[in-house]
Amino acid sequence: MENKQSLASQGPGKYHESVMVDQVISALHICSRSKHLKKACKYIDATLGTGGHTLEILKLGGEVLGIDLDPKMVEMSRKRIGKEILDRDKYSLVNGNFTDIDRIAKENGFEKVSGILLDLGVSNLHLKDLERGFSFANREAPLDMRINPEAQGVKASDLLNILREDQLRNLFEVTIEPGPAKWISKKVTEFRKRSPILKVNDMLEICDGLRTGKHGLNEATLPFLALRIAVNSELENLKEVLPKAYNLLEVGGRLVVISFHSGEDKIVKDFMTGKGVSGFDIASADELEGNPRARSAKMRILEKK
Ligand SMILES: C[S@@+](CC[C@H](N)C(=O)[O-])C[C@H]1O[C@@H](n2cnc3c(N)ncnc32)[C@H](O)[C@@H]1O
Repeated sequence: MENKQSLASQGPGKYHESVMVDQVISALHICSRSKHLKKACKYIDATLGTGGHTLEILKLGGEVLGIDLDPKMVEMSRKRIGKEILDRDKYSLVNGNFTDIDRIAKENGFEKVSGILLDLGVSNLHLKDLERGFSFANREAPLDMRINPEAQGVKASDLLNILREDQLRNLFEVTIEPGPAKWISKKVTEFRKRSPILKVNDMLEICDGLRTGKHGLNEATLPFLALRIAVNSELENLKEVLPKAYNLLEVGGRLVVISFHSGEDKIVKDFMTGKGVSGFDIASADELEGNPRARSAKMRILEKK
């Protein structure tokens, strides 16, 4: 793999700890000039985060359109990238939903591109932000989980207070088996008869005693993941973005998707096998030691024919 040392520069701390950087760079075949279009190679990082992947693409001479649903991530990336890449013409960073990738690409002159990256889910910074309800480290936090609170109206607590028991079962079945999903849905409806579900702690109480059959995971991890996926329409958004992203690729261009759970991966796999060949790669052992989030990462690559 090329660019072996780049992982080291992604160290923990202030920014999201990017996964599979070397594999992503290698899969995207970063170039500074497109054979097909005979001009600068353009890439879209549709899940910009704090810009770890974008920065590597820029350093190798590609031009990048970065998109993120969370305005805070775009702001952080702007500061981070601005310090290292002095030529402002090489990149555009936009706050938006990747489901609008076609419109955003057109508005920024990225109608045909050499590669697109989707590094799904939320960033470490979301999980570390103890006020947004993504993690159960702060029991007093509101159960919110919206990636963009300015653009999204429905919080995780709203779903728990409003959905019928059968709808809750469907929500939880995205990450856990039907038996435990039924169990937890019933507990939600029992809890809310006594008082509304508002805080992280309420959901932790509801999860108390849940058996998901996944050893080594906190009992609340998978229900919290299911809630986050639902609040942010993550699976629906993924289904919508894949064909739009594929349409933006030039011939020979590559779509690279990193997913973190089987629900996401199935959507990616089905889309890619529908279009032809699909390979996948998993995070390297070295990376696992330094970045536990990479444990569940799965990367798939599709080349446009
Ligand atoms: C795993 S992080 C990406 C990290 C990034 N590759 C890096 O190296 O810093 C996923 C990012 O996707 C963003 N995101 C999630 N859903 C999105 C959507 N529908 N449209 C745009 N961005 C989205 C999240 O806000 C988060 O910052």
